[in-house]
Amino acid sequence: MIERQLWHPVLASHTLREAPLGLGLLGESLVLWRDHGAVHAWADRCPHRGARLSLGRVLTTVQGPRLECPYHGWQFEAGGRCRHVPASPDFQPPVGHATTAFEAREAHGLVWVRLDAPAAGLPDAPPAFAEAGDPGWRRVVCGPYAVATSAPRLVENFLDLSHFGFVHEGWLGERGHAQVLGGVVSESPQGLQVLKARAWQPRGYAEAGGGAWVDYAYEVSHPYAALLRKDASDGDPVRNAIALFIRPDGDEACTAWFVMATQNDRSSDEALVDFQDTVFAQDRPVVESQTPKALPIGRTARVAEVHGPADRVSSAYRRYLQRLGIALGTC
Ligand code: FES
Ligand code: CO
Repeated sequence: MIERQLWHPVLASHTLREAPLGLGLLGESLVLWRDHGAVHAWADRCPHRGARLSLGRVLTTVQGPRLECPYHGWQFEAGGRCRHVPASPDFQPPVGHATTAFEAREAHGLVWVRLDAPAAGLPDAPPAFAEAGDPGWRRVVCGPYAVATSAPRLVENFLDLSHFGFVHEGWLGERGHAQVLGGVVSESPQGLQVLKARAWQPRGYAEAGGGAWVDYAYEVSHPYAALLRKDASDGDPVRNAIALFIRPDGDEACTAWFVMATQNDRSSDEALVDFQDTVFAQDRPVVESQTPKALPIGRTARVAEVHGPADRVSSAYRRYLQRLGIALGTC
């Protein structure tokens, strides 16, 4: 399954502390735990008698950090191998006494996990987001948002400027000013880029003082992630880059985070999160109302959707998914 070969965000980095945490990804139960800085993601099942390792605890031993199973106290080291069986302290556990370890890393304030090695042509790292790691930008993580639709529906919503005047009236758009201008779309096997898409915004960010034309640039380099950069055309110094990162939770549900990177915006982190929460609360009922919840594309699509000229970006995104071979609605 191609989705197992992609990096997926699973939780915000700051929520993973000393205690191990259990969560689901693509039908796998995972335990996540930290050893000093490093993050580990393993199958949440002890190979001894199947107890959940996420109910255990992290130990600091002279041999290094270990995860202790809650049932019989077996200890597992980084990599997943059992190194100590308290009931038989002289027993040397063989290599096979191990839990499955998956690849895990942190990027952009989130923990990312990949279940299987990727086929050629798939991205080898979580999507790039330079501003989120640049000390010249402030980074704020918003979410998680559990959403009752598929990840691609949410990506399309993020790429879509033409809903602003209706869903976000008075915030990101005005119905009397709904025209979307231009946008140069370039497509490649790795994704797509959009430059100079333009929309009128009465209040394009938390502290915006008045309406302005706002230029949007988009980047998609992962099927369930998208990045936008926006700059007001009237010289306003506030700059925002916002990434949407989504974990698919089956065909009809997903969990999303927005990671914002901002410059020259004096609003507090809480105000930025409130703004994003408000905007997303406007999107939610509409995107959750869309049927089917999986994008209706590809040969197996049972319904067709029609398009307008302002839908060029979502059409390019659909082509990207099809190039990747993601069988929508069945993955
Ligand atoms: Fe984990 Fe026995 S079930 S130590
Ligand atoms: Co919206």
